[in-house]
Amino acid sequence: MFDDPQSPAWTPLLNAAWKARDHAHAPYSHFLVGAALLTASGEVVAGCNVENAAYPLALCAERGALSAAVASGLRPGGLVAVVVVTDVEALTPPCGACRQALVEFAGTLPVLLANRRTRELHRLEDLLPHSFTSGHLR
Ligand code: THU
Repeated sequence: MFDDPQSPAWTPLLNAAWKARDHAHAPYSHFLVGAALLTASGEVVAGCNVENAAYPLALCAERGALSAAVASGLRPGGLVAVVVVTDVEALTPPCGACRQALVEFAGTLPVLLANRRTRELHRLEDLLPHSFTSGHLR
């Protein structure tokens, strides 16, 4: 299902991510990003990037979605899939910080990147190999 980038299973996630992207607050970069997560309880949770006049405070769409999902009950192991959408030619992969944030909730996770024209499917474990996890804290 989520191993096929063209699967209709992605549609609710893509719709939610595009809708969230419409609300992105990106007056500095003008780079609007939407993200959506599917949780094990079947919930689709979206996020957009939120920039600030104090530039380093910018929050990525993926971590915005992740925070909202945690607030509605997401726990480690509960992430099923994630979508990231932008309206530019080069598909946008999650930044390093977002990869690490996602790993906390799913070691293995399909990550669909999309623009208006195309899609590309990756896996989080390929995007962030040898990641630091709670197991390293023992
Ligand atoms: N951004 C995201 O929201 N997600 C990504 O995966 C990459 C970058 C945002 C952060 C900032 O608001 C803008 O895109 C430019 O870096």
